[in-house]
Amino acid sequence: LRTRVAIVGAGPAGLVLSQLLADAGIDSVILDSRTREQIETTIRAGILEQGTVELLRALDPGTRVDTVGHRHDGVELRFAGEGHRIDFAALVGRSVWLYPQHEVLIDLLALRLGAGQDIRFETTADHVEGVDTDRPRVVAVDAGGEQLVVDADFVVGADGSRSVVRAAVTGSQTGGYFREYPFAWFGILCEAPPSADELIYSNSENGFALVSQRSPEVQRMYFQCDPEADPDALSEAEIWDTLQSRVPGTTLHEGPIFQRDVLRFRSFVAHELRNGRAALVGDAAHTVPPTGAKGMNLAIADVVLLARALRALLLEGDARLVDGYAAQALDRIWKAQQFSWWMTSMLHLAPQSSDFDRLRQLGELRTVVDSAAGRTYLAEAYTGWPLPTSH
Ligand code: DHB
Repeated sequence: LRTRVAIVGAGPAGLVLSQLLADAGIDSVILDSRTREQIETTIRAGILEQGTVELLRALDPGTRVDTVGHRHDGVELRFAGEGHRIDFAALVGRSVWLYPQHEVLIDLLALRLGAGQDIRFETTADHVEGVDTDRPRVVAVDAGGEQLVVDADFVVGADGSRSVVRAAVTGSQTGGYFREYPFAWFGILCEAPPSADELIYSNSENGFALVSQRSPEVQRMYFQCDPEADPDALSEAEIWDTLQSRVPGTTLHEGPIFQRDVLRFRSFVAHELRNGRAALVGDAAHTVPPTGAKGMNLAIADVVLLARALRALLLEGDARLVDGYAAQALDRIWKAQQFSWWMTSMLHLAPQSSDFDRLRQLGELRTVVDSAAGRTYLAEAYTGWPLPTSH
């Protein structure tokens, strides 16, 4: 199989990239090990930055972000028994949208398949060859167990945190800057009306909790837990008690819990984002802890830069933007790493923390909410730094 750009991964990054390339007349093939149904039903992130929403609207006239999604003009930080609203609209004139990632994927798959995009589901990339030549290729195994070789001008790893393409870019599966955290999130989906109009990030004496949403009928909530916690070990009543004890001042609307999971916290940036004719985007290139919801947005920002670089390379033979891709992408990636680490460390206490640590942390939260500069930094980072222009 021959194409110009072989994209491994039909997540938000891979699908948006295929659209940006198609708009420039560059064809691509996307491989993904999952079925379309798995991609469309796996519950992931929920928050889109304003720039991400603007890009989706520009790319996809059928996007439902404005009909099914909801604009949020702020979030609440709750600590020491009080809520403090961070008013994004007033502070920076920008907002975020609550629009679940699987809905974004339903939209993007319909868009790309409707345009005739070649997407090979249940096709698992095994490795990448020839990145030092003008004809790199992806060697994969298709749904029927047959080998599939995709010859391309360029290979993109949009294949998530367990990326197969990464080895061809960094020289190893794992090589990168890495940090782990001594806690995780216990996440639930429940059938209930929203408990609050906006998201609540709560630092309480009993630990962290986040009250988020998915739709008028389905809510998403998280609480800090041990990374080794077994999601099935707690009863629904225990989950509600834990959540309720961590959001003092709000009575949560309870309802049947139909999904539960434990999310590990990691920060990771690959040592290299590009090697010859292969590059990494999204979780293949970096992972952020979930606090602050940067993951999907950062993936889309990578792709905007890479699409521009691939247009220059493949349409004009100009390699300068591809050569500059990693350095340019890393500016935003490390800002997002800093923000995600900061939100995480400001809101969670590690198991070994002292009273000093706890009181200093409350001092930090108070510093942020009492200062226009502090609130403005949070609002700027949360709603997202401007995306690079695509031309
Ligand atoms: C959600 C996840 C986050 O990490 C966050 O900061 C806000 C919302 C969510 O899944 O709804």
